Amino acid sequence: MTLNKKNSINNILEESRIFPPSKEFSKNALIKDFKELIKLKEAAKKDSNKFWDDYAKSEIDWFEPYQTVLDDKNAPFFKWFPEGKLNISYNCIDRHIKNGLSDKTALIWQGEPGDDKTFTYSELLEEVCKTANGLKSIGVKKGDLVCIYMPMIPEAMFAMLACARIGAQHSVVFGGFSSESLKERLIDGNAKFVITADGGYRKDKEIELKNAVDLALEAGANEIVEKVIVVQRIKKEIYMDSSRDLWWHELLQNQDKWCEPEIMNSEDRLFVLYTSGSTGKPKGVVHTTAGYNLWSHLTFKWVFDIKKDDIYWCTADVGWITGHSYIVYGPLSNGATTLMYEGVPRASNLGAFWEVIQKYKVTIFYTAPTAIRSFMKSGREIPDKYDLSSLRLLGTVGEPINPEAWIWYKNVIGKDKCPIVDTWWQTETGGIMVSPLPGAVNAKPGSATFSLPGIEVSIVNKDGEEVNSNEGGYLIVKKPWPGMMRTIHGDPDRFKKSYWEFFPMKDKKYVYFAGDGARIDSDGYLWIMGRVDDVISVSGHRLGTMEIESALVSHESVAEAAVVGRKDSIKGESIVAFVSLEKNFQKSLNLINELKQHVVNEIGIIAKPEKIIISDALPKTRSGKIMRRILRSLASGQKISGDISTLEDSSVLEKLKEDS
Ligand code: WTA
Repeated sequence: MTLNKKNSINNILEESRIFPPSKEFSKNALIKDFKELIKLKEAAKKDSNKFWDDYAKSEIDWFEPYQTVLDDKNAPFFKWFPEGKLNISYNCIDRHIKNGLSDKTALIWQGEPGDDKTFTYSELLEEVCKTANGLKSIGVKKGDLVCIYMPMIPEAMFAMLACARIGAQHSVVFGGFSSESLKERLIDGNAKFVITADGGYRKDKEIELKNAVDLALEAGANEIVEKVIVVQRIKKEIYMDSSRDLWWHELLQNQDKWCEPEIMNSEDRLFVLYTSGSTGKPKGVVHTTAGYNLWSHLTFKWVFDIKKDDIYWCTADVGWITGHSYIVYGPLSNGATTLMYEGVPRASNLGAFWEVIQKYKVTIFYTAPTAIRSFMKSGREIPDKYDLSSLRLLGTVGEPINPEAWIWYKNVIGKDKCPIVDTWWQTETGGIMVSPLPGAVNAKPGSATFSLPGIEVSIVNKDGEEVNSNEGGYLIVKKPWPGMMRTIHGDPDRFKKSYWEFFPMKDKKYVYFAGDGARIDSDGYLWIMGRVDDVISVSGHRLGTMEIESALVSHESVAEAAVVGRKDSIKGESIVAFVSLEKNFQKSLNLINELKQHVVNEIGIIAKPEKIIISDALPKTRSGKIMRRILRSLASGQKISGDISTLEDSSVLEKLKEDS
């Protein structure tokens, strides 16, 4: 065993230790060895149409067949299985009931205050149908957009599947976003309906979701939103507008337990999910029915190697893509048992996750590196108190995992017997793109290893030319895949330009640019090096620096703002903002706190800057561009290196150093 401690660009240790899966694991795995994986990858490369066609036919139930696999006539607006007809809620529920799984547990839900519930597939069908009928009864129609702003309760899943059942699009907004962010998303998506709750629990506190909806509506969304459905969760007295607001339990009380699934075209929209990019405004990523169904289904099956008795738990929130693909659609489409947990580990219960694993004998556990790093920090004594022997497979998502955290996860949580799948993907990709297949790939800690069958990735320079092995560059996907985003809601041009026309096109071929830097080592393993655009990742939450800057500048005291990420040993990155003030304002601790709170109000708690530095001037080039490279060095306390000759006024640097 050798450990090569050379630092790579983003301070991740380069690792050459290799961890093969146990023979036992491989023997029982769906894809049992590397040769089998290579065979699949080659088959996909040789005849990608046949590859996708075979899987679409064998894994998805269609109401009417498609004739075309991939329609690339209007590239990069690719269409998949365009003539096909299906319904994803049928594929997630009804077909399993037809196959004898009525009494299998579909959903295990653990509430934060200790309450819990389970739903079998037939109970899930009933709940989804009642919800679907309830939505229809208030006028929700095929194609309408329904915003779901909810805590992690079963009703969030029912609401998503009910929308899918009647052909409405859902737009789930994470409950940690502020009323202002919610308003933006309601208006951008033209959401006529909102489903929310009287409140939710977050780290021993109550969050006022309905109140945030009221504020978003008052602030302008009332011109669009017609009805608000409210789930009673925390039983708090809240304001209800009798002409607009309805209680979920009253609406569903007398609804029929059966609702015919709407017949959807493959390319009908399933959902819009907002994510941060490098502009000030979040973008609504659009996913459609068939391609997303196939990709979330297939990746779940391959990567999590699902078996019929597995108890699978993904700790994400349904407000993120990970929750969409790997709490709801992927697991249910496979007829698996998926666990949903309302809480998060918190000071009063650091063992919360391990308690859940012990209680339900969870076999597959999928979480974020940030969580693992914070568990590491609080010591192995905590997980060691619990029985984690049911676990057989572990996963990570959302940000690079450093080898130390990987090894800790493997030893302390996985007791050295569980393979780890480090899964790289994005809101835009719909499902996992790069990950070890757990029975087939020898893992290297910190590497997401290889792209999945059907996905061809490469590392290129700014001219779009492939770089040598071990050289860093831009990560691209060379061919379209079924789960790819179809467009940005309301901005197809941005979709085309920023994702598919980023590099000069070679041979008129479109390649997808992910926004990440990466390198491929001499063994062919892929190492993600982090974002190359103005997107930062704080505890695995994706945030645009410009979004935070816009929020700051909207405060009356702020003249200019520049936001950068600073390395953080737990959160991956934390937010540092440099701010210059308008003339009549004075620097003070109070103002700094006010500005932090202002960002929380504008975006949400996840965007709260860790540090705000007020300075008279920001470093700019002669053409007026803020030199973020300098700010990044200052924020992380590093020496300013590289060329500073383009700086307009070099005295700014001294001033900034004093202020930092
Ligand atoms: C980052 C989350 C390293 C990456 C599913 C990507 C990762 C962004 C990994 C997408 C990983 C995700 N290793 N980085 N395993 N997984 N990322 O849209 O920068 O919230 O572009 O989707 O997270 O974030 P998003």
